[in-house]
Amino acid sequence: MKILLTGATGQVGWELARTLLPVGEVIEVDRSQADLADTSSLRAIIQQYQPDVIVNPAAYTAVDKAESEQALAFLINAEAPGVMAEEAKKIGALLVHYSTDYVFDGTKSTPYVEDDATNPINVYGQSKLAGEQAIQSTEGDYLILRTSWVYASRGNNFLKTILRLAAEREELKIVADQIGSPTWARLIAETTAHIVRQAMFERQSSSFDPNVYHLTSSGDTSWHGFAQKIVDSVREQGKMELKNRAILPIPTTDYPLPAKRPTNSRLSTRRLEQQFGLTMPSWDNALRLCMQETV
Ligand SMILES: NC(=O)c1ccc[n+]([C@@H]2O[C@H](COP(=O)([O-])OP(=O)(O)OC[C@H]3O[C@@H](n4cnc5c(N)ncnc54)[C@H](OP(=O)(O)O)[C@@H]3O)[C@@H](O)[C@H]2O)c1
Repeated sequence: MKILLTGATGQVGWELARTLLPVGEVIEVDRSQADLADTSSLRAIIQQYQPDVIVNPAAYTAVDKAESEQALAFLINAEAPGVMAEEAKKIGALLVHYSTDYVFDGTKSTPYVEDDATNPINVYGQSKLAGEQAIQSTEGDYLILRTSWVYASRGNNFLKTILRLAAEREELKIVADQIGSPTWARLIAETTAHIVRQAMFERQSSSFDPNVYHLTSSGDTSWHGFAQKIVDSVREQGKMELKNRAILPIPTTDYPLPAKRPTNSRLSTRRLEQQFGLTMPSWDNALRLCMQETV
């Protein structure tokens, strides 16, 4: 089985390049081979390799910058996945695509389920939702995996930022009124490998149903709770000197950013767990394991 993988330099893509190894022959294509902003190069590379599966973690992920680069965000996050879906359908391939908690407005008081009404409140969320819709309207075989608050021991992410700031500053102020589930990129990649395998078996027996799934850790916290857990974990390990003495909770209004964020980013993973026989680990357990290889 041939798997075409985009975005292997990113957090999730880097892990996928490893977890997909036993699933099939992984063909990594980077921006120089397939620029998602250039849909004709994207079509050409899919036609060239004729993969059985396309896994697409590549995306325009600069949430705040997207507010001023709307056209580029839509090109990469909406038009390109639509093109991938069209090409995948032509060659009978499965498309695995990632989306986000930011397709919701965050006003619900309980975790979002897949069929809840979407209503993105920033350009990034709008572009990712448009990507989901472009894929679905093609009516080929797809899996759309919505995840949230992604971190890894490499790349640019909240974990790495907190480690740097906690080493430099005695006091940090972190937003405490946005709730979600921090999700380790490796967990996303491991889960994807299981899902792809099962989906390919289902396709062989014509029992596969394209669908949207929520893929996050279980449990939830605030950005403040996440930061505190990172710092506590570094202290327990005793591997790194930190100047930090206090992490103070602040409201979102005290940390204005160009893009609005949903207050409730919690996603129910029940559909994914039932369909694929998986149990998503708690966010703090996954963080503990990631921290063992981070500092
Ligand atoms: N990060 C989060 O907190 C989060 C939350 C919810 C959902 N998601 C979704 O999860 C998926 C994976 O996110 P991530 O955090 O792993 O992303 P990431 O670390 O920001 O990596 C993005 C990847 O996309 C590639 N890319 C960007 N523009 C491209 C273009 N024009 N052509 C080709 N490749 C391009 C990047 O390549 P270069 O190295 O060349 O730039 C990089 O490999 C994305 O769909 C994202 O929307 C992420």
